[in-house]
Amino acid sequence: MTQIGLVGLGYWGPNLARNFDELAELRWLCDASPDARERYATRYPQTRLTGDLEDLLEDPELDAVVVATPAVTHYELAKRALEAGKHVLVEKPPALSGAAAEDLVATAEARGLVLMPGHLLLYHPAVQEVKELVDGGELGDVLCVYSNRQNLGKIRTDENALWSLGVHDLSVILHLLDETPSEAWAHGNSFLTPGVEDVVFCYLRFPSGKIAHMHLSWLDPHKMRKITVVGKEKMVVFDDMELERKVTIYEKGPWQPTDTYGEWQTRTGDIFSPKIPNSEPLRLECSHFLELIAGNGDAHRAAQDGLAVVRVLEQLQESLVAAPA
Ligand SMILES: NC(=O)c1ccc[n+]([C@@H]2O[C@H](COP(=O)([O-])OP(=O)(O)OC[C@H]3O[C@@H](n4cnc5c(N)ncnc54)[C@H](O)[C@@H]3O)[C@@H](O)[C@H]2O)c1
Repeated sequence: MTQIGLVGLGYWGPNLARNFDELAELRWLCDASPDARERYATRYPQTRLTGDLEDLLEDPELDAVVVATPAVTHYELAKRALEAGKHVLVEKPPALSGAAAEDLVATAEARGLVLMPGHLLLYHPAVQEVKELVDGGELGDVLCVYSNRQNLGKIRTDENALWSLGVHDLSVILHLLDETPSEAWAHGNSFLTPGVEDVVFCYLRFPSGKIAHMHLSWLDPHKMRKITVVGKEKMVVFDDMELERKVTIYEKGPWQPTDTYGEWQTRTGDIFSPKIPNSEPLRLECSHFLELIAGNGDAHRAAQDGLAVVRVLEQLQESLVAAPA
């Protein structure tokens, strides 16, 4: 069975620990905080506990390291694990610059190791349904995609709304459109903590002409987690706040009747919600990592997806910084 070591037992790490304990062998738990280690000592009595990543890296039985520490530490911890010959699942974003993300990908590929970013939404059954609709041509030509990730809170001071929230939507937008944007612009402002943008609006344009937008904010009256894809034949909405109707397909679109001399009209048909399995996205993400380690699936693609998202985030960040105050 694959032997997993997890670094980071804060808010998110324990969810990864639970899944890997069920799917593989949770061999090590590592956190710099003694309190965090103590909290999980009785829950995982078979698992070794440490505050030092080196203990994991020196263990020849350990196959993989899962990094669930704050973003600023991801590059360094992932790099050390790869250099020690361990496969790596690193929480999003894998690094804070395109150059650092490229270095991680090159290190993994040179050693034949898996480097997978924690792009949770790609494992959401609703996103997989939307991807099938896009790829199967059901929506017709996709024209634009936009996402809303807004709420009042959680107000962060260590990373801005672009890096904290945008990574989710960006991973989905790039996955759905399967293209690299030729333009990426962001506007936003830091209202609460100097230098940390609380509200960010992003615009992306792709070589095919498709366009995308992301509204990212923790200063908003609406709690929204929504992605809308507008196709020429149909339109689809993934709304993660809905309990049952996560995906809604609208048979709506523009059309040109032959008898109106090229004038556009609109067409409205059925509105339909397919059944979406309620499998836990994190469980599917962890299973995918184990499959990649076993040699099944496209490990190169997983590593490249992480790099692509970081590169676009970096471009967006540059335009955000460059914007006049
Ligand atoms: N996919 C998702 O939906 C999702 C959701 C929440 C968080 N996350 C990601 O998970 C990561 C962790 O977020 P969090 O909210 O759990 O953070 P957190 O601050 O609650 O926990 C981080 C933990 O890492 C430990 N730590 C920090 N540096 C360390 C080091 N060098 N060695 C060992 N331990 C160290 C800290 O002691 C702390 O316990 C972030 O990258 C975040 O983006 C992902």
